[in-house]
Amino acid sequence: MSDIDIHQQLQTALESFKEPESGRPISKTGQVSDWTVSEGVVGCRLSLTSMMQPIATEIADSLRDHLLATVTGIKQVNVQLDITYRPAPTIGQIGLKAKSVIAVAAGKGGVGKSTLAASIAIVLGRMGAKVGLMDADVYGPSIPHLLGLDGRPEIVDGKIQPIKSGEMPVMSMGFLVGKDQAVVWRGPMLHGSITQFLRDTAWGELDYLIIDMPPGTGDVALTLSQLLPLSGVVIVCTPQEVALLDAGKAISMFEKTKVSVLGVVENMSGFTDPQSGKTFDIFGKGGARAKAEELGVPFLGEVPIQIPLRSESDQGRLAEVLLDPTIAKPFENICRGVVRSLATQIANRPTLSAPLPIL
Ligand SMILES: Nc1ncnc2c1ncn2[C@@H]1O[C@H](COP(=O)(O)OP(=O)(O)OP(=O)(O)O)[C@@H](O)[C@H]1O
Ligand SMILES: [Mg+2]
Repeated sequence: MSDIDIHQQLQTALESFKEPESGRPISKTGQVSDWTVSEGVVGCRLSLTSMMQPIATEIADSLRDHLLATVTGIKQVNVQLDITYRPAPTIGQIGLKAKSVIAVAAGKGGVGKSTLAASIAIVLGRMGAKVGLMDADVYGPSIPHLLGLDGRPEIVDGKIQPIKSGEMPVMSMGFLVGKDQAVVWRGPMLHGSITQFLRDTAWGELDYLIIDMPPGTGDVALTLSQLLPLSGVVIVCTPQEVALLDAGKAISMFEKTKVSVLGVVENMSGFTDPQSGKTFDIFGKGGARAKAEELGVPFLGEVPIQIPLRSESDQGRLAEVLLDPTIAKPFENICRGVVRSLATQIANRPTLSAPLPIL
């Protein structure tokens, strides 16, 4: 087999490998370059975007496996990864620049939506993506409290300046009303404030906007789906049977509004006593995985009960406690699962609607 033949086969092989962000054949996007072929050893450079950075090594591995499986006469493939930034498109009518908007919801209150939404946002950011976090719980905002943020957003050039947690822009009703002030609003005002958060906030350009949904998602989910195409929803539930039933209802509600379910997370899934190392399944375990399988949606992983997660978040130190690798690990798995699920969804949609990548 000559090197020229191998080069030709490599080009053909790229036609059947989808670029994860656009779903187009990667042969058309110019993201694989700098080929070298010598004695059956192939080298190339794969450019991926910050949006896909959380799963970049898996994508490189699957490109390598794909080439090894489809090209004859090669014995080794070395893929060198390169992360680039690609501008976010403007989505919906509201001028938000984000590649994807992901809601974190549940069928039930108190299962850990806000904790999960904030943790997913923080961990995705640490994995290299550009992330914003929006608290859509306008009646009972908890994101500022979890992240220890306060202050009033300024208005500059007619845009609300979000409060930053590290690099991450955050917007919440908690910044606009006093801590113990009750917000008593009617439906249209709820719609108005969600619109303002999305349209009038200086989010910058984002790979991911993560939205913490209030309990009883109906109204806000409807408002959101009228404003922009949601990329998908992550459903949080706890292992008890009743929570699982409610999760099932939430999934079917989102499916009815044509929002795709990126997957299910089981929170408060077991507790390991740090002293004895013994594990106790306080609320049960594994029910969410079974439910997800039954409903045909991905299972994204489980987060055990971790005492520091609760105690530190109560002190506004969620971002800090997530620096502990043991605490962060389940969230890293979930973040990879979310990005993977998004990439699968993009790969499966009709190619005509896929945006042209700009490199
Ligand atoms: N895995 C966990 N380990 C320990 N504590 C947790 C875990 N997940 C959530 N918590 C705690 O459970 C409580 C409820 O969590 P959270 O506020 O995130 O739930 P929620 O679903 O957003 O609630 P609401 O429906 O009121 O918005 C908080 O005190 C939080 O710190
Ligand atoms: Mg909440």
